[in-house]
Amino acid sequence: MADMLYVDGGNPLHGEITVRGAKNFVSKAMVAALLGEGPSELRNVPKIRDVQVVSELLELHGVHVRYCPEAGVVELDPCNVRTPMVADVDTLAGASRIPILFCGPLLHRLGEAFIPDLGGCAIGGRPIDFHLEILRQFGAEVDKAEGGIRLSAPEPLRGTKIALPYPSVGATEQLLLTAVRAEGITELSNAAIEPEIADLINVLQKMGAIISVDTDRVIRIEGVQRLVGYTHTALPDRIEAASWASAALATGGDVYVRGARQADMTTFLNTFRKVGGEFVIDDHGISFFHPGADLHSIHLETDVHPGFMTDWQQPLVVALTQATGLSIVHETVYEKRFGFVSALESMGATIQLYRECLGGHACRFGQRNFYHSAVIFGPTPLSAADIVVPDLRGGFSHLIAALAAKGQSAVRGISLIDRGYERFTDKLAALGAQFSRETS
Ligand code: EPU
Repeated sequence: MADMLYVDGGNPLHGEITVRGAKNFVSKAMVAALLGEGPSELRNVPKIRDVQVVSELLELHGVHVRYCPEAGVVELDPCNVRTPMVADVDTLAGASRIPILFCGPLLHRLGEAFIPDLGGCAIGGRPIDFHLEILRQFGAEVDKAEGGIRLSAPEPLRGTKIALPYPSVGATEQLLLTAVRAEGITELSNAAIEPEIADLINVLQKMGAIISVDTDRVIRIEGVQRLVGYTHTALPDRIEAASWASAALATGGDVYVRGARQADMTTFLNTFRKVGGEFVIDDHGISFFHPGADLHSIHLETDVHPGFMTDWQQPLVVALTQATGLSIVHETVYEKRFGFVSALESMGATIQLYRECLGGHACRFGQRNFYHSAVIFGPTPLSAADIVVPDLRGGFSHLIAALAAKGQSAVRGISLIDRGYERFTDKLAALGAQFSRETS
């Protein structure tokens, strides 16, 4: 498939699109199926590259996967789980970050695991030290091997007490997927509590797990001896919903996002309103629109849930280039999440990056030479440019900028966007965007 879009921008997006299950939940729920003694069925599954990668990795481990993209249903039967050839697993090296979450389930099922080198967006160092420390504390042996990590469990894994240095989403999921079948009780403090994690807990509870989420980010798990399959409908993708909302605002349009759910987006909605965007919520989705008046500059800090998600930041920054005054954005989750702004500058935006924490509080990245704060001056008209998609969310931001900019932009590397935005070109067409895919 051609990897470039020519976008004729400067026209508001109008219309309706549908978001299905959250990318950052669906892949984890698919991994959880490995823990069940019977088949599982996950519904509301979007057709995105991450689902394909996880399906392939599960199949290599003997899970029978049947995916019907139209119905959005994936059936997973883990009855013949087996150790695959390392060379086969290696073919998926660098494709995604999800393989690291196979560790606990495979250790329980097979007593060993080989995890290929991870992929994912280049938005910071993205270490896995918390994951490996968690696995060691459960009693796993973890060794670096060529092309990945080799793990084994000489004894059954035992429950443990762990405090995370930072409420990492992935490390919390690692712990949940390992603790549910470990012997005894596990207690995690400073856990991440994102809605996608709450939904993973829903899945695990359906499977037979005993998990309680206490106040102050403490999660307690009582290990059980057996888990069964589940049937579950994935929560909607709040990142995709916010991305289309930002596209509506930046282009001066209106987009009804069918499937968007208020409860998962409260912080985004507050910010959207402060910028001057308007929205109407009904039982089936949220309509986001630009009311026609000037947009307002804001001060924003990204944070773990219930704060403003880091993944909402990049799309919204494009809309902030159209707001009057100086906006300040302090990114506190990833140290390198402003790589995408150079393309916006080439299109006419005025954005200055700073190493300092330009926010209410000092974050982990202050004093560490990362350009993790941005000052955006607006409004600046955007003009067309030739731009290259840097990462998933940054890529969608480039697309929004191209849609907002007058003239024809060339957006290269758009297949990266397929990793997390289902059929985004069909959705662009449904919203009246003018574009063509390069056919060469
Ligand atoms: N961190 C460590 N050590 C670890 C793990 C994380 O230092 O072992 C640090 C990271 O470097 C980062 C911070 O902790 O600075 C937060 O990382 P977290 O583990 O929470 O992120 P993740 O699980 O790797 C998921 C999503 C991201 C999303 C973050 C935060 C998936 C597959 N990815 O990543 O989504 O930004 O949580 O909500 O669920 C995206 O969808 O584009 C995306 C990047």
